[in-house]
Amino acid sequence: MEFIVNNESMTLELGSKLGSLLNKGDIICLNGDLGTGKTHFAKGIAKGLLIDEYITSPTFNIVNEYTGRLKLYHFDVYRVNDPDEIYAIGFDEYIFSDAVSIIEWSSYIEELIPDEHISISIEKLPSRGIDFRKIVINHVGDRYNYIEGITL
Ligand SMILES: Nc1ncnc2c1ncn2[C@@H]1O[C@H](COP(=O)(O)OP(=O)(O)OP(=O)(O)O)[C@@H](O)[C@H]1O
Ligand SMILES: [Mg+2]
Repeated sequence: MEFIVNNESMTLELGSKLGSLLNKGDIICLNGDLGTGKTHFAKGIAKGLLIDEYITSPTFNIVNEYTGRLKLYHFDVYRVNDPDEIYAIGFDEYIFSDAVSIIEWSSYIEELIPDEHISISIEKLPSRGIDFRKIVINHVGDRYNYIEGITL
């Protein structure tokens, strides 16, 4: 599924719609260049999970933890130099749990990502305008068929 958004609020709204549908143990991979809006999309997901806490980028601590309707682990693996580093923090115990896991820059640790997951890629559309983004949502695994009805 592909969505064109033209401001930050629309990205939050789409994230929130996804977040409100998520189930225990769901894994969401977020990829896209620096500053495309991955963390804003994650903020939307958190809103949809009824998390009241302020979501900050976990770049320096790799993972932040929140609790709403479900538990949320928000990873940013941009600064991870070697997948072994993230493996060492007990990555598997986080992602194979009842929590929802969001992983920014998951492509950096592709070999650690389970086959079945939701993947979101965000791209700037500079020719359309500074705040325009193309957000593509895909999934592997029937357990995620429920996302197919999302509309903006
Ligand atoms: N349509 C949009 N959706 C999301 N963010 C937007 C949009 N238009 C402009 N922005 C701006 O782009 C920036 C996105 O920042 P954000 O931290 O969410 O990106 P990121 O992809 O997580 O970056 P990083 O790779 O550094 O983690 C914010 O400053 C936001 O205000
Ligand atoms: Mg970010």
